[in-house]
Amino acid sequence: MLYIGVDLGTSAVKMLLMDGNGKIEKIVSKEYPLSFPHPGWSEQKPEDWWEQSLAGLKELTSECDKSKIAGISFGGQMHGLVVLDKDDNVIRPAILWNDGRTGKETDYLNNVIGKDKLSEYTANIAFAGFTAPKILWMKENEPENFAKIEKIMLPKDYLAYKLSGVHCTDVSDASGMLLFDVKNKCWSKEMMEICSVKESQLAKIFESYEVVGNIKPEIAKELGFGENVKIIAGAGDNAAAAIGTGTVGDGKCNISLGTSGTIFISSKDFTVDDNNALHAFAHSDGHFHLMGCMLSAASCNKWWMEDIIGTTDFAKEQEPITEDKLGENNVFYMPYLMGERSPHNNPDARAVFIGMSMDSTRADMTQAVLEGVCFGIRDSFEVARSQGIKIESTKICGGGAKSPLWKKMMANVLGIPVEVIESEEGPGYGGAILAAVGCGEYASVEEAADKLVKVIDVVKPDAELTAKYEKKYQYFKQLYPTMKSLFGAK
Ligand code: XUL
Repeated sequence: MLYIGVDLGTSAVKMLLMDGNGKIEKIVSKEYPLSFPHPGWSEQKPEDWWEQSLAGLKELTSECDKSKIAGISFGGQMHGLVVLDKDDNVIRPAILWNDGRTGKETDYLNNVIGKDKLSEYTANIAFAGFTAPKILWMKENEPENFAKIEKIMLPKDYLAYKLSGVHCTDVSDASGMLLFDVKNKCWSKEMMEICSVKESQLAKIFESYEVVGNIKPEIAKELGFGENVKIIAGAGDNAAAAIGTGTVGDGKCNISLGTSGTIFISSKDFTVDDNNALHAFAHSDGHFHLMGCMLSAASCNKWWMEDIIGTTDFAKEQEPITEDKLGENNVFYMPYLMGERSPHNNPDARAVFIGMSMDSTRADMTQAVLEGVCFGIRDSFEVARSQGIKIESTKICGGGAKSPLWKKMMANVLGIPVEVIESEEGPGYGGAILAAVGCGEYASVEEAADKLVKVIDVVKPDAELTAKYEKKYQYFKQLYPTMKSLFGAK
């Protein structure tokens, strides 16, 4: 049978066709615009996601035996607020995970309601990109839109809804709304009250690998699919990527270098870190995970390459950064283009270059960007370590994982081996695996990941280089507290 994984990303929707043995038959990618209507705001049109997904599904399946398609599932950008009215029309553009407009609402939740209460109700505190502060923002700033809300959705759930007609979500993605009681896997009555939301506006909750329904007959007809094609709930993109990299079960780690940068630690048991600096979310394998998320990772490199120095040949720009240059760079970069989530929780933070001299080169600046992202990941890695979590090695995925140089920097900045897997298509591959599990091809997510995910290379840290990077990291660590009072000041 054939399974489709849909990775609803921030720059594009990537779709992947996989057979029952995990072989990727075809990948299709379709882009859509991202708009920044004010500095620090970030929006997309759900209608664009749907249009491009439908076009992508047609292209993806144009040459295959469509009668073999059994299921479709998803890995989706998390936290985005999608609101529909009573006629199923999208009320306003979706407010995305990297939108920083909710500083006031986040402060209210953390300081007036209180972090202890939030943590008790949801296992998390408020971060600007989470969904609940956005709902409060809409209530305050767009009361006429707020009054129209019939359904509240997350990005990938909008696609599942368009395909199946079922208003559904999954435990991993619901975890990032700050409306979900992660430990008990149900909506939090207290949080609904705080946000003036009724349970009828929220979706039905599924485990990520559960079937939510069949594809709608009219959509099946349009795509030429059978009417028995199953729609499986899917997961937030990080939880889906974790499956796609075999980060399931206990104590495994995955780093994703996409538009965002995340460090994801799987856990069989529910855990929360002492200060809620890491997100404590449900995992798509039926268990739990901790996660740190930086808002700009591969997007820092893309911005620097395309918007500032004007090139699309990323590999060529990295050529002059030879082995002897690693750990020797005097230029530093703070990767906060969209503010920062983990661990600083500051939507007003901004990117900074520091340390240039007359002999600094374009390559030094490029190197600083790549290293700054590794140092940002190290910040969350340190939070996990401070909780006694031992991370012995990590997998890596996302667009940034295509760069051998970046992987080498990461291994040496963290001081652990970085395992490279056969398919870097994290969320799309994870989505297809969830579809296969939902359709009964595998008994569990763990079984499927064990059978399908293969490590093909290991980038080992080098003791001398790790020591050099340790010194650089100790310097980097001082930059944020030094700069903090300037961020947001005009
Ligand atoms: C995770 C997060 C990002 C988005 C990116 O908390 O906000 O990784 O999911 O799509």
